[in-house]
Amino acid sequence: MKVLIVGSGGREHAIAWKVSQSPKVEKIYCAPGNAGIQELAELVPIQASEFEALADFAEAKGIDLTVIGMDDPLCGGIVDVFEARGLRVFGPRKNAAILEGSKAFSKELMRKYNIPTAAYETFDDKEKAIEYLKTKARFPIVLKASGLALGKGVLICQNLEEALEGTEEIMGLRKFGDAGNQMVIEEFLTGREVSVLSFVDGKTVKEMASAQDHKRAGDGDTGLNTGGMGNFSPSPFYSSEIQKFCQEKIFQPTVDAMREEGREFKGVIFFGLMLTEDGPKVLEYNCRFGDPEAQVVLPRMENDLIEVFEACIDGTLDQLELKFRNEAAVCVILASEGYPVQYEKGKEIRGLENFKDRDGYLLFHSGTAVKDGKVVSNGGRVLGVTALGKDIHEARVKAYEAISWVDFDNKYFRTDIARSADTL
Ligand code: AMP
Ligand code: GLY
Repeated sequence: MKVLIVGSGGREHAIAWKVSQSPKVEKIYCAPGNAGIQELAELVPIQASEFEALADFAEAKGIDLTVIGMDDPLCGGIVDVFEARGLRVFGPRKNAAILEGSKAFSKELMRKYNIPTAAYETFDDKEKAIEYLKTKARFPIVLKASGLALGKGVLICQNLEEALEGTEEIMGLRKFGDAGNQMVIEEFLTGREVSVLSFVDGKTVKEMASAQDHKRAGDGDTGLNTGGMGNFSPSPFYSSEIQKFCQEKIFQPTVDAMREEGREFKGVIFFGLMLTEDGPKVLEYNCRFGDPEAQVVLPRMENDLIEVFEACIDGTLDQLELKFRNEAAVCVILASEGYPVQYEKGKEIRGLENFKDRDGYLLFHSGTAVKDGKVVSNGGRVLGVTALGKDIHEARVKAYEAISWVDFDNKYFRTDIARSADTL
């Protein structure tokens, strides 16, 4: 098979790495990819937003399967473009990717189908939102730009003043662009966060593994929200009892609801959950693998990923058993100092060769490029160091050992990834 992967981050590197192990795969292409993916795939200089050009490429090269890693093209309808041309593609259509693309939509879906989530109101008018905040709100409260905002469009406000400022940012100044056309105001939930990635074939949903992200930039969950500074899998807080509840009250009902609405979902649903005192509740849905969740979940997966992708497309996921290693995985992101606000790129990365043939250690590239024959940083998140171990403790020790094997000038990382799960 010839496989095309669309995207350029650590998630796509992890997908390419896993796909490369399938005996079915003869050649991998990645558009646009990065310096790490280049070791496994031929890079194609077409951006993820160029749907027709990507479909032209897939036709010309006889690509057997295209895998879309990123949310933007999925929400923009890349799958529909490929399908209209008879090309096989993994990911939800536009009318299903809306599960992530519009929080206003997903909240309404949850309300209609009784899927547990935080109480909320949706606003498309700034003045009405302000009036609600002044008269009805209880603090802290959460403001969410409804559309896609790189995981940064969520503001937790402690008091009215902060909430009014946040409303101005989202709906007035349009800090997150059109994502702020609508805003969700939501009850603040407390508890432990868990991410569960799952494969969906339209009817059947099968969990991969649980993980826990660290979204804030600084140690101790301080600083701004980022795309994710590291994570671990599995989450020791995701007990079999919680899992059963989620299967029955959240995962299957979501997939059924989408079908009921004429929006059959095929692909990956990433359930962002809060384990509250009143039980698990949905914080958000994503319509693709998480980044860096993919970097801890895929290394633990035993199945041939291509077989699973095909089962999702063909609607035969019920016939397949997903298998995960008992080992734990921890991923620490090496970022550029200043991320997510302002940071320098183009720093030479040294020591990449130290990861070659090291069992139990993986290096996934998030934002890298080749410049003058050297691998340089090319984004806020630069590399993800993943280690496997018999438990979270061992994986954590190994991941933090391995981050010293690579270096670049403005290297920044959190020192407390997986610490909360390590002391258990
Ligand atoms: P989201 O993109 O909706 O997952 O939100 C990003 C992050 O904001 C989540 O991972 C949570 O840490 C936090 N968050 C979102 N919604 C809530 C909520 N209702 N209560 C408390 N924290 C929240
Ligand atoms: N790490 C969070 C996400 O991929 O949305």
